[in-house]
Amino acid sequence: MPVTHAPIGVFDSGVGGLSVLAALRAELPHEHFVYFADTAYAPYGERGDAYVIDRSRKVIEHLVREHRIKALVIACNTATTAAVHLMRAENPDLPIVGLEPALKPAVAVSRTGHISVMATRGTLASAKYAALRDTFAGSADVRSVPCDGLVKAIEGMDTPAIAALCARYMAEAGPFGEASGEVDTVVLGCTHYPLVKDELRRHAPATLRFIDTGLPVAQQTRRLLASAGLLADEHGTPRGSLRLESSGHVAVLEAAAAHWLQGPSQGPSQGLPAPAAPLAPSTATTA
Ligand code: DGL
Repeated sequence: MPVTHAPIGVFDSGVGGLSVLAALRAELPHEHFVYFADTAYAPYGERGDAYVIDRSRKVIEHLVREHRIKALVIACNTATTAAVHLMRAENPDLPIVGLEPALKPAVAVSRTGHISVMATRGTLASAKYAALRDTFAGSADVRSVPCDGLVKAIEGMDTPAIAALCARYMAEAGPFGEASGEVDTVVLGCTHYPLVKDELRRHAPATLRFIDTGLPVAQQTRRLLASAGLLADEHGTPRGSLRLESSGHVAVLEAAAAHWLQGPSQGPSQGLPAPAAPLAPSTATTA
């Protein structure tokens, strides 16, 4: 099989990366994708770098070994901040796209100069995020809002918990408005959060801007593939495909994908067998 026809791997701790996958599929409709949700080991955001590095390494090894992916999108801010530098060093032949909170575009569009960044505790505590702030915040007032528990609630589709946590963290991210001293722009620095944007919006004026990274990441992936000569042949591959995999229950991922992505997945979906010595209880389905 020509390498241009190989799939692109996309991974996240769970369903959050589907918000990025939707943008990737819209931008690259001829590409094949394998999406891996590391659900049995989620959430990553409150667990520390060593854990996230270990999980990222295992997932990437699986995607390279089983699917011979031609490129990888780490659709997770937490995994990117903890592990992308190591994963690039360990996989020098694999183009890797990472995510980081969209602070630069937020600073560019904010009129009040007051911005809140909602993300996991791991992302906000990282050296990478500190460097991002140093580079792009300028004179803007940037407030960091760690949203403990929100990823877990989204993974569990726990509607009351999602509603309560969105209310709490939006209260911490405000006050919102267009007047001096008010926050007019919120960065969604975790790929799970765009999935509950409607719920977040309930606690904000209509003028509040939410910024996430789905579209720019998809565009960056296209540029990277093009420069490496790895774009799928648009004539030879009339339509791309999607394969869903999970270290947890793949049915949960399929339900989430049916909800968040337009159009059914193509190709079989499957779970990844848990490693012999799991780091956390796993409910993996076997291949
Ligand atoms: N979607 C991940 C992110 O972008 C969530 C991390 C987690 O599992 O806590 O950070």
